[in-house]
This record gives sequence, C-alpha cells and structure tokens, in this order.
Amino acid sequence: MKVLVLGADGYLGWPTCMYLSARGHEIVGIDNYFRRNVLKELDSEPLAPVPDLHQRASLWEEHSGKKIHVHIDDITDYDFLLGVFRDFVPDAVVHYAEQPSAPYSMLNHDAAAFTVRNNLIGTLNITYAVREVNPACHIVKLGTMGEYGTPNIDIEEGWLEIEHKGRKDKFLFPRQASSLYHTTKIQDTDLLWFYVRTWGLRVTDLMQGPVYGVSTDESAADPRLVPIFNYDEIFGTVVNRFVVQAVAGYPLTVYGKGGQTRGYLNLRDTLQCVGLALESPSGKGELRVFNQVTETFSVNDLAERVQRVGRELGHNVEIREIENPRVEKEDHYYNPAYTGLLDLGLEPHYMTDDVVRELIQFVEGYKDRINRDAIFRGVKWR
Ligand SMILES: NC(=O)c1ccc[n+]([C@@H]2O[C@H](COP(=O)([O-])OP(=O)(O)OC[C@H]3O[C@@H](n4cnc5c(N)ncnc54)[C@H](O)[C@@H]3O)[C@@H](O)[C@H]2O)c1
Repeated sequence: MKVLVLGADGYLGWPTCMYLSARGHEIVGIDNYFRRNVLKELDSEPLAPVPDLHQRASLWEEHSGKKIHVHIDDITDYDFLLGVFRDFVPDAVVHYAEQPSAPYSMLNHDAAAFTVRNNLIGTLNITYAVREVNPACHIVKLGTMGEYGTPNIDIEEGWLEIEHKGRKDKFLFPRQASSLYHTTKIQDTDLLWFYVRTWGLRVTDLMQGPVYGVSTDESAADPRLVPIFNYDEIFGTVVNRFVVQAVAGYPLTVYGKGGQTRGYLNLRDTLQCVGLALESPSGKGELRVFNQVTETFSVNDLAERVQRVGRELGHNVEIREIENPRVEKEDHYYNPAYTGLLDLGLEPHYMTDDVVRELIQFVEGYKDRINRDAIFRGVKWR
C-alpha cells in the first residue's frame, strides 16, 4: 500500500513510519517540525536526542534497506499538500499532524488560536486533497478518548442508538471535551463525518487514550530511532511523565484526588491498531470509529505502580497530590467499550511491572538530560 503519514516526526508518527515500512508499505512522511520548534520555545527538550527526520529516514534505510521519503512542510498549506497527493497518489493517509497538547491549547489566546487553525485547516485540507486526487483513499485519523469526556453512562464505540418519542436513529456518541485541544478533535470528527456523508469518503477515526512507552521492534536496531519522548507537563503524557519524575527524584504530581480514570495503551499497540485499520479499510461513505485503548487506570493506580516499581529499582519515589490546575471530574464513572480493534486481531501489550521497569531503565540512561524546571509549570484551565 502507498501510505502518507502526516506528523511523521512526532511521538507516534515516526514509529508508525518504520512499522509500516518494515511491513512492505511504501511510505511518504510529512512534518513541519511544529513540535520540535515549540519545545525549544518552551525550553522542554525531549529526553533523548532526536535526529531530524531526514537523518532518521537515512538511519532507517541503513538498518532496514527500506526508504521512507520525507517532506518538511505544513499541511495547512493546501497547495503543498495537494502537490504531495498528486505525486504520490496514496491509498491511505494516517493523520497525526495536529497540535496534540491539552495544556498548550489552554496557555493563552495565541496558542488557542493556533490549535484551532492548525487542527481544523489541516483536516479540511486532507479531505479536499483526497477528493481531488483519489476519493477511494482511506483516511485514518487519530482522535482521542478525551472527546467523550467522562459521562455518567457507558461510552460506546463511536455511535449511540437513541430512541426518542417512539422513533429511533443512530448518532455519533455525545462528546463533551475538557480542553480546547480535545474540542478541536471533536470538530475534526464532525468535519470528517460531514464529508463522509457528502462526498462518500472512507474514514476510520481511532479514539485513542494516552499512549505510553518508547520501544518498538523497529527502534531496537538503533537507539537513535526511538521516538521523540517528552516528560514535561505540556507535551509529556502522564505515564511517561511519572516515570521521569520517579528517576529524577521529583514527587509524582497527582492532580487533585487522582481518581481521574482513562483508557491507556502501549505505543506498540498504537502501531498495531493503525496497521489493522489500514489492512481492512472502512467502506465508501463510512465513518468507522474504534476506541483505541487496552485497559483503564486511575491516575492514583498509575502513580502507585510507578512508585512501587521505581522503589524496587532503588529510586526514592514520593507521590504528591497538588491542586488540580485543570477543570475536570476527579471521581467519576468510566466504562468505555473497546472491542472493535480486538475483533480485528489486536493483541494487547498490557502495562505490567516489567513494562514499567523497562521504561524506567530507558529513562535512567538519560538521567543527566532531565530538566527539572520543565516538569511542572502549572498551566491553569481558568
Ligand atoms: N500521544 C498520545 O498519547 C495521544 C493520545 C490520543 C490521541 N493522540 C493523537 O495522535 C496524534 C499524534 O500525537 P503525538 O503524540 O504523536 O503528537 P506529536 O506532537 O508528537 O506529533 C504530531 C506531529 O505533527 C506535526 N505537525 C503538527 N501540525 C502540523 C502541520 N500543520 N503540518 C505538518 N506537521 C504538523 C508536529 O510537528 C509533530 O511532529 C495527534 O493528533 C493526537 O491528537 C495522541
């Protein structure tokens, strides 16, 4: 398959490029280095040094004999994106190229406006380029479980059948996000659903939970192939952040009561899920939704696990409850369905103590690069 990976330099994008390339797909990757550049502005360098995308593509070619073609440019520039679509004519596009941080989107007006423009115009441009060049192209778009929020009912896989005054219909499951970033992901879904209905596009929306981990089969060949890994409050996801805090001897920062429960998944499972979605595309005029998580934990569960394993490895790991800078429920019902990807063949990698131990040992290798000032900044929701 010819697969265009948007956001190819990112935490998920680069491992996806290698994973798909290793399986014989022809890959073109695009990234505008937004994430690298904003990390410099925020003085939050990644934990391990990350060669640029051209260098990583060359390294990958040295190790695998396979080419990944890359373009450093912005998908909100429609002429550029359309040009790549015309040259490559992809069978599928994997869309990761967004501003993905909830705290960043809540920083100030400029960051909020950037998040809205970047995420929505990027998604709009993809729909137009697909229609123009290859309407059969399968769009695999990364959504987030955060779109659903934490409703007091079970979360279905994308859709909900509603009976109202004696009549029935099926709708997208109600969404009520708790950050501007998550709100743009809802709007992405709405845009795609509109063009699925109107132009008959094929779309899979992967409602993903927070991802953790760093190693994949493909990065085992060379430490310079590991993905960009952040541990700061703005770009680090919670498990990755806790593990770095444990190694740095910085108390694990639990927001409020720590009862916030979410669905999580290992980086290796993101790759499997995207691969499975690509292998069995959605139909013409279908918006298919999968909840991409493998297990649920509260923040307290995660902190306690990282503390236990960290202490076994000799680290002094404390847990500190701090005032919650976000506006969110700290104690709530949470019961999402997530069987669709299992039915397609997903074999989950669960969060065992061994997995956490391996992650802590990875972080120990870069302990000298940890910037304690970047760990917590206290971006407030109001
Ligand atoms: N990492 C997670 O835990 C997680 C969880 C749920 C959903 N997601 C979703 O997965 C996607 C990827 O997340 P990630 O963690 O890899 O983020 P990331 O920031 O590491 O990757 C996104 C990449 O896209 C690039 N990019 C952003 N805007 C662009 C543009 N206009 N043109 C070209 N490139 C652009 C960035 O430079 C970055 O390299 C996001 O859409 C995010 O919403 C991630």
